[in-house]
Amino acid sequence: MKKISKRLEKIFSYLTSCEYLADVGCDHGYIAKLALDSGIAKKVCISDISEKSLNKAINLLSDYGDEKVFSVVSDGLELVPNTVDQVLIAGMGGEEIVKILSSSHFLPKKLVLSPMKNGEKVRKLLIELGYEIVHDTIFSDGDKFYFLITADFGGKSVYTDMELEFGKESLKSKVLVLYLDQKIANLEKSFDRKSEKQKEKIQSLTKIRNEINRNL
Ligand SMILES: C[S@@+](CC[C@H](N)C(=O)[O-])C[C@H]1O[C@@H](n2cnc3c(N)ncnc32)[C@H](O)[C@@H]1O
Repeated sequence: MKKISKRLEKIFSYLTSCEYLADVGCDHGYIAKLALDSGIAKKVCISDISEKSLNKAINLLSDYGDEKVFSVVSDGLELVPNTVDQVLIAGMGGEEIVKILSSSHFLPKKLVLSPMKNGEKVRKLLIELGYEIVHDTIFSDGDKFYFLITADFGGKSVYTDMELEFGKESLKSKVLVLYLDQKIANLEKSFDRKSEKQKEKIQSLTKIRNEINRNL
């Protein structure tokens, strides 16, 4: 297997030991393979809405037999067995993750989620569904930033608006300041003549960035 990215390594490090892991939207299947190779999961369910993507994972995991790997083309958790005890969903937008979780036929005991955007929608839904958010952080890989949320079913999390927006641990992290620096710089260079709305957004992000920086 080729060397996996820092992003995937980081996501993998947040998985906990389990019997049966589902990698929803697995695409290449790198994390599912690492989970079996390392023994962190005894069995994996690899699933993807795209058969072409799923086939990449099936090939990667071809050394493992049916007792270790169940593969299924599935929209979200629709055809994922409810016996999985940990579900990973990474590399999708927050709205897609919300759609998957809110239409699921079961609520997994443990979730590891890495929404590419709209993380606040994911955090809100987890709280509504009765999950305790265990980790809620940000990390970088090169010049890209990623949010990572883990949650256990059957708990309660109390979040402020700022925590919902950025994640509890992220607010104590220098990485969030760097993320906001990048976001502000991108907004500033994206248009020559900025609209009022854009100026307000830049001002608001700058205020938040400075406040987080002060509290570090
Ligand atoms: C950008 S890739 C991410 C792959 C991998 N999880 C990662 O983090 O590197 C997104 C994958 O999610 C799949 N996908 C998108 N929507 C989905 C859904 N509703 N259910 C299952 N898979 C989905 C896509 O087909 C694609 O393979």
